[in-house]
Amino acid sequence: MNNARALFSLNDYPVQPQIIHAPQRKVLSVKNVCKSYNAQQKVLNDINFDLHAGEMVGIVGRSGAGKSTLLHVLNGTHTATSGELLSYPEVGLPRDVSGISGRALNEWRSECGMIFQDFCLVPRLDVLTNVLLGRLSQTSTFKSLFKVFSDDDRARAIALLEWMNMLPHALQRAENLSGGQMQRVAICRALIQNPSILLADEPVASLDPKNTQRIMTALREVSEQGISVMVNLHSIELVKNYCTRVIGIAQGQIVFDGHPDDLNPDVLQQLYVDEISQLH
Ligand SMILES: Nc1ncnc2c1ncn2[C@@H]1O[C@H](COP(=O)(O)OP(=O)(O)OP(=O)(O)O)[C@@H](O)[C@H]1O
Ligand SMILES: [Mg+2]
Repeated sequence: MNNARALFSLNDYPVQPQIIHAPQRKVLSVKNVCKSYNAQQKVLNDINFDLHAGEMVGIVGRSGAGKSTLLHVLNGTHTATSGELLSYPEVGLPRDVSGISGRALNEWRSECGMIFQDFCLVPRLDVLTNVLLGRLSQTSTFKSLFKVFSDDDRARAIALLEWMNMLPHALQRAENLSGGQMQRVAICRALIQNPSILLADEPVASLDPKNTQRIMTALREVSEQGISVMVNLHSIELVKNYCTRVIGIAQGQIVFDGHPDDLNPDVLQQLYVDEISQLH
């Protein structure tokens, strides 16, 4: 376990997450990735970038640009049509995780957790159980069936909920939470898997400004723990306020990869050109 993820361990779970200033380690290399859902359209077209520990990367681009597809291809929900996804473990050689299946894919999805705009919690289950469900891929089938979790898992779920200020709601049904609270639980459920990468597909799209701020701050804290965060956003302001890097996608291709401060009007025009022209 690396330093970053050790900070999320049970025994010394920090109340205030610590910022790590160590040089960033490469965790993933995306090479020549293409994705087509059908013969007519290449939704991702030759995507290349490296992801490092502790980065908070905003993915921007107009609707239909391929942002969600990119995240789904990264965590293996959708398979890349071609290209490589090289995962760099802390020890040992990199391995290509594109095209894996079965147990290897389940393990990769734990490494590369994901949260969604609509939270994807089980409404009738309580908050604590929803978080523990994140452990299912690492739990035996028998235990999963009867939702039997170890004391360690429970303690860790409680620590995460405490960090997210959600412990008072631990025994409440998920369906009775506000949107912002549901998203905080979803983050805990993803983190209980000890991911090295956390993907977030428009996690604040349905939230009010206060909850948006809470979730973006939480994601930034996660990245400061050394976990690489990639977040699809429609707000350039949020990208500038929270992200350390931004990748701009237009028609399935990366047209910008750099610091948010360098997102100038020319780049924005290129990213949103169709939407802007449709307004006139
Ligand atoms: N499962 C699918 N089957 C077929 N086509 C799909 C599928 N998912 C996405 N697409 C198509 O791929 C393209 C990119 O979709 P994607 O959802 O990745 O865009 P996006 O950038 O996330 O857009 P938005 O900002 O609206 O969420 C779109 O043309 C979409 O219709
Ligand atoms: Mg999308």
